[in-house]
Amino acid sequence: MRTKVAIIGGGPAGLMLGHLLTREGIDNVIVERQSGDYVLGRIRAGVLEQGTVDLLEESGAGSRMREEGLPHEGFELSFDGDPLRIDLKALTGRSVMVYGQTEVTRDLMRLREQSGAPTLYGAKDVSLDGLHDQPAVHFTQDGERRTLHCDYIAGCDGFHGACRKSIPADKLSLFERIYPFGWLGVLVDKPPAAHELVYAHHQRGFALCSMRSATRSRYYIQCSMDERVEDWSDDRFYDELSLRVNPAVAGALQRGPSIEKSIAPLRSFVAEPLRFGAMFLAGDAAHIVPPTGAKGLNLAIHDVRVLFEALADRYRSDSEAGLDDYSPRVLDRIWKTERFSWSMTTLLHTFPEHDPFTRRMQRAEFDALLGSATMRRVMAENYTGLI
Ligand code: APR
Ligand code: PHB
Repeated sequence: MRTKVAIIGGGPAGLMLGHLLTREGIDNVIVERQSGDYVLGRIRAGVLEQGTVDLLEESGAGSRMREEGLPHEGFELSFDGDPLRIDLKALTGRSVMVYGQTEVTRDLMRLREQSGAPTLYGAKDVSLDGLHDQPAVHFTQDGERRTLHCDYIAGCDGFHGACRKSIPADKLSLFERIYPFGWLGVLVDKPPAAHELVYAHHQRGFALCSMRSATRSRYYIQCSMDERVEDWSDDRFYDELSLRVNPAVAGALQRGPSIEKSIAPLRSFVAEPLRFGAMFLAGDAAHIVPPTGAKGLNLAIHDVRVLFEALADRYRSDSEAGLDDYSPRVLDRIWKTERFSWSMTTLLHTFPEHDPFTRRMQRAEFDALLGSATMRRVMAENYTGLI
């Protein structure tokens, strides 16, 4: 088997790259470990930056998002019950779109199926070789060992994937922070407690009220990583959430049976560089952000856009300049986005090691945001997506 670009991983990064390449007439094959249904079963964040929305629209993948997505012109911060609206539209002229990552994935899968471009699901034990001369991807499918030869490999196989791990340790620098808590999340078929997202700092811990649609809500509370989901009945969850958000939001909270409940860890992570021979890392394979700024998917889509343009250039004009520039170019934006996600996380969570001074610093930062449109603008520029 032979293709131009072998894409490892059929999550949103791999699917989006495949979609862009296929539209450009560049042969590509997606090699995915799981089944399509498994990939669609993952519940992930749901806020799209303007740039992500634009790329989906321009590439013909935005029609359902345009119909069903919820444009949001602001969000609310709350600190020990005191509210502050961040007016994204007024501060930046831009807004965001609330549309679940699962839905983006579903739309891209459907387009790929229609295009006839191959996706090899259930591909186990992926290994790579020839990254400096004749790249090849080996994998087992239906009990048979197969090989895919290619010009380039796009490592879009997430944090636990095989691509980053196949780079020799001395050729890669890893930067990581693991936060001493997680998020306990609940998905429920009830209208959201507020029209906009609410990010709340409370001395009991962080809480977030988000949504997937006008009738489906997504709520999170900060928890210890020692917690077990089984110990959190729906009522215990809603009781705790209510204590952490403003009374107005707590009063509007509609309880219902959870349709998903899980605990996710929070991590910041960057690998450098993002090229090794003919292989390029993109998305969660390259970096992880804590979910506080809703940046994970947006950053992945940005990587993929830059990688696509570089590959298109290479096949159109035989120029490798874009490919040479890929890693430094995306890392610049990745680090800025890491900084924003880390700072939102640091402002809004309670840390076991925080002393009274550090807690006062958090409050002072919230008060500074209250008093300064300039500070709010910096937050809004980051939240709607760096240009
Ligand atoms: N071989 C083939 N496929 C693999 C392998 C492997 N060894 N390891 C992982 N995969 C697949 C996973 O099954 C998954 O479908 O790679 C895909 C990676 O998808 P994601 O983890 O969703 O990562 P990415 O596409 O980069 O999307 C980034 O996802 O985690 C969120 O916050 C993140 O929203 C961001 C987005
Ligand atoms: C979500 O809806 O899952 C979500 C929204 C915003 C975030 C994180 C998660 O910052």
